[in-house]
Amino acid sequence: MKFTFFGHAAGYLETGSDKFIFDPFLTGNPKASVPAAQVSPTYILLTHGHGDHVGDSVAISKRTGAPVITTFELANWLEAQGAKTVAMNHGGWCKFSFGRVRFTIAFHSSSALEDGGRPLYLGEAAGVVLETEGKTIYHAGDTALFSDMRLIGEEAPIDLALLPIGEHFTMGPKDAARAVEFLGAKRVVPIHYGTFPPLVGDPQEFARLAKGKGAEVHVLQPGESLEF
Ligand code: NI
Ligand code: MN
Repeated sequence: MKFTFFGHAAGYLETGSDKFIFDPFLTGNPKASVPAAQVSPTYILLTHGHGDHVGDSVAISKRTGAPVITTFELANWLEAQGAKTVAMNHGGWCKFSFGRVRFTIAFHSSSALEDGGRPLYLGEAAGVVLETEGKTIYHAGDTALFSDMRLIGEEAPIDLALLPIGEHFTMGPKDAARAVEFLGAKRVVPIHYGTFPPLVGDPQEFARLAKGKGAEVHVLQPGESLEF
């Protein structure tokens, strides 16, 4: 299968049967490597309600018919805007034709700004685990470091982990390197850095700190892919 980094926390996973887009913030994303109108996923996986993750979810779902698989309150909110959704919550698996999905905890918040700028709280932020074609992919969403990442790695060996390293709103390189250790992932791609000025975490520093922790670190430029 092939993973392509689309910039920020957005990524695209192409398998034999499906195309998954994670956190499809493309319109307005200064690092986006592809316009939203050019992606046609079969599923949209969404970690939380912040604008730099929800992004083009509704537009892509409406155009392609791909459901947005996400947490309960966020799914309801997107459904009201015309998206197709699958509403889940932390800890439980949901089976699909391609395999299964579950949401993990993430230490972060989840809200959107309504018209007029008022925040609308949308439940708890999450990470997501995707099992398909015998492989396990973990997108951590936005999160602080938490030691229960060990549990995620113990459940099944993680073939690819997507970890935020940007600082300010999430883990920085140092904590993300500890996350690599907790997860025991085979491959790691750093995400959520450099998009906006506060996201100062340096992927090369992350790669250096994560060295020797058992994972291959792949620093992908937006648009670059990794086959595994
Ligand atoms: Ni966020
Ligand atoms: Mn974010």
